Amino acid sequence: MAKSRYYGRDFITTADWDKADLDRILRLAREMREKRYEEPFTSLLKYRSFFMFFFNPSVRTRQSFEAAATELGGHAQYLEPKSMRLKTKKSAGETVEDAAKVMSRYAVGLGIRILEGAIERYGDGDALLLEYARWADIPVLNMADDKFHPFQGLADIMAIEDHLEELRGKTVLLTWAHGALARSWCSVQEHLLIAAKYGLNIRLAYPKGYDLDPQVIETVKKYTAENRAEFEITHDPVKSYEGVHIVYSRNWMSPQAYEGGVFNKEKEIEKALTYKDWITTAEKMKRTDNAYFVHPMPVDRGHEVEDEVASGPRSLIYEIAENRLHVQKAAMALLMSDLWREEDLEKRGLL
Ligand code: CP
Repeated sequence: MAKSRYYGRDFITTADWDKADLDRILRLAREMREKRYEEPFTSLLKYRSFFMFFFNPSVRTRQSFEAAATELGGHAQYLEPKSMRLKTKKSAGETVEDAAKVMSRYAVGLGIRILEGAIERYGDGDALLLEYARWADIPVLNMADDKFHPFQGLADIMAIEDHLEELRGKTVLLTWAHGALARSWCSVQEHLLIAAKYGLNIRLAYPKGYDLDPQVIETVKKYTAENRAEFEITHDPVKSYEGVHIVYSRNWMSPQAYEGGVFNKEKEIEKALTYKDWITTAEKMKRTDNAYFVHPMPVDRGHEVEDEVASGPRSLIYEIAENRLHVQKAAMALLMSDLWREEDLEKRGLL
């Protein structure tokens, strides 16, 4: 009996996955949401451990992965990299090869978060994940690096699909917002990638000087072209809301954030806070086609969005936060459970 075709795969970004496979993960996530504490789901990771490295703080990601491991019958172990004597550019220690090989003897999966002030330049965080994926014999799951945040993207699209019956012909406005957090590009880039893959028209709005990764934008354009959807960049913080169905508002750092191998957080925040027009308001939402409000959280209320919108009836923020649990459970079961076989997936319509 063959193990499931998903067993052992890494999950670095949704862009590495076919839409049909992402659809299967979402289908399983919805079934797991409905039957949250039922067999066979509660035994799929029984007695098995999932290791989590957090180079940066987290609320949702840590809690939802820990809860996911528990609900699948397993255990998530929280690891602080600074307590592990790992080799870095500045200090001697254990190599990624050795750490990954040893951990593969203990756990069934390894999640890593590394972004913002934990890296010296854009791309370093994602490169570290790929290095672990190269050496580990167990799946490496991206819990947010500087480029991608796949489970956030899956949680976003799950909520959008649940609320918009048909995605084609609908438009998502993904707008930069001023804020005091200087966030990495991972959540917004992942959202652009998955929204484009799922056929939404993309309107990307930001002040000049806040370009995202050009390679990611090229991939987003490719997906929109393949889906005969529209892709547009605008620098207007008000007219950009015209007629859209989803508003996603988020602060992100500028491409200059890592000058000199240092993350210039304070400088980024000071610069961002001068763009006072870049906030999602109830007034601007009136220009939309009764749009839903989407945000990966944590929300910088009063900067990124007004309370009236973030806590309003069209806000999907808590639903998306909950979806993190369900999509991660589905992915962990498919990638990390040796108890599921091809025929089990077939029975559930997952092939
Ligand atoms: N959205 C998200 O990843 O939240 P945390 O940073 O709290 O994990």
